[in-house]
Amino acid sequence: MDNKRKIKNLALIGFMGTGKSSVGRIIAESLHYTFLDTDELIEARTGKTIADIFAQQGEPQFRELERLVVEELASRTKTVIATGGGLPVHGDNLEKLKSHSLTVCLWSSPEKIYEQVRYQSHRPLLNDPNPLAKIRQLLNARKPFYRLADVLVNTERRSVREVAQQVIHQFRLAQAEHNK
Ligand code: S3P
Repeated sequence: MDNKRKIKNLALIGFMGTGKSSVGRIIAESLHYTFLDTDELIEARTGKTIADIFAQQGEPQFRELERLVVEELASRTKTVIATGGGLPVHGDNLEKLKSHSLTVCLWSSPEKIYEQVRYQSHRPLLNDPNPLAKIRQLLNARKPFYRLADVLVNTERRSVREVAQQVIHQFRLAQAEHNK
């Protein structure tokens, strides 16, 4: 990691269903940071659900909204940011996040992810006749981007609280190292 980087925020990246929002909320509470979810921000701004944006305007427009949110995040401090699963894969979003945040990727196997998301219907990319195959395909394509995170945390055999503790530990180490 670049030693001159300032770590003002924590950004959680990773595939849908890996627990970014749940873990992020716990961490924010514990650190007394603000919690921010990029999907929630987009929904609040547009007054539409993510599913409606995909259906009415298409994925490219959603990605543009994500890009704009990422640009705004540069001015934040003491914020835990939970990002949409596709956000770090597009444009220079990940690079931009790294300019102010420690980026932590929550990782899980396709089977575990499927278990988490199978009874949920709000994610347009998983409205597929074979969701597990779609998860495998997307995860494979995104893996090289997720691996660029500063820290990778396997969430599979850990509770949400354990994952949060692990991320907090890594965040404190990074802050001590970079904000001297
Ligand atoms: C997406 C993930 C979703 C949301 C949108 C697209 C993706 O966020 O941004 O449905 O491309 O992986 P979560 O990861 O919070 O489910």
